[in-house]
Amino acid sequence: MSKIILTGDRPTGRLHVGHYVGSLKRRVELQNSGEFDKIYIMIADAQALTDNAEHPEKVRSNIMQVALDYLAAGLDPEKVTIFIQSQVPELTELSFYYMNLVTVSRLQRNPTVKNEIVMRNFETSIPVGFFTYPISQASDITAFKATTVPVGEDQLPMIEQAREIVRKFNQTYAEVLVEPEAVIPQNEICKRLPGTDGTAKMSKSLGNCIYLSDTEEELRTKVMSMYTDPNHIKVSDPGSLEGNAVFTYLDAFCRPEHFAQFLPEYESLDALKEHYQRGGLGDVKVKKFLFAVMNEQLAPIRERRLAWEKRTPEIVEILKAGSIEARKAAAQTLSEVKKAMRIDYFEDEEWVKGEVL
Ligand code: TRP
Repeated sequence: MSKIILTGDRPTGRLHVGHYVGSLKRRVELQNSGEFDKIYIMIADAQALTDNAEHPEKVRSNIMQVALDYLAAGLDPEKVTIFIQSQVPELTELSFYYMNLVTVSRLQRNPTVKNEIVMRNFETSIPVGFFTYPISQASDITAFKATTVPVGEDQLPMIEQAREIVRKFNQTYAEVLVEPEAVIPQNEICKRLPGTDGTAKMSKSLGNCIYLSDTEEELRTKVMSMYTDPNHIKVSDPGSLEGNAVFTYLDAFCRPEHFAQFLPEYESLDALKEHYQRGGLGDVKVKKFLFAVMNEQLAPIRERRLAWEKRTPEIVEILKAGSIEARKAAAQTLSEVKKAMRIDYFEDEEWVKGEVL
């Protein structure tokens, strides 16, 4: 069986380092592994509209931002197909048939949707499109017969929903769809990188994000003002690692060789942590180290982004060609789906001959 990747992001803002360690970095590694027959990366504008119906211009303007972030992170349009969800209407059609295979109570149990309903104050008036987006996401995945879906941990309930739809469809009609597997980060910390203020999640509205598009100076300012241990006042005070964003980020970004490179007086992250907890190590020193470590990884991304920003007409071409190609693949699956459901009347010989009574 071919190995196929499909994944994507909602274009509601520029991508940040949480996206990077949570999924984007892995996608680039998978792309370069050469193990996949096909890789589709989708800019999920239609899904973004499910909770931004009043702000289509926000979604529209972020399509290019997300495309730039993809290319900057190292996704290579020669190796992956990048496309825009709304330009593949077959996905919507698939969703309409899948809706009959999912119950309202099943959707109500989806923990990610539950969480998002609270975050968006939708409790009393949930848009139907938003409520059903896990079904639309199953269409995104199954339309390409994806076997592998690299995503952040919060997306696991979506993959589970897709798997259930696949089983139900194949059981009810015919073996057409493929059950996907999620790929999530191995490193615990990367599953949920906190904001720079130490709160659980990076979010644009909280202003606690470090973006892939931040300049070196913006990165420095954000790192130097990160949340640490509020009780670590004097350098000599013992410090705590619990909820200390600087150390959490070091867990996500620091590799052993960074010590020889940027902080040779310590031999490992454990040694640095031990000194911090014992007392005698100041926040500024740790933050400067974190800045160096992050900047080493973000500088090439930033440079590629600046170079691509001068080539946006080419990006438009990439997205357009990608959407055409994605549409072909989705149309193929849709036709198999309709055949399995026997709603392909005009391709059905018996039906065409009029032997339908
Ligand atoms: N829900 C994903 C997000 O919030 C975006 C998305 C839409 C997606 N369809 C997908 C991810 C299919 C993986 C597979 O970012």
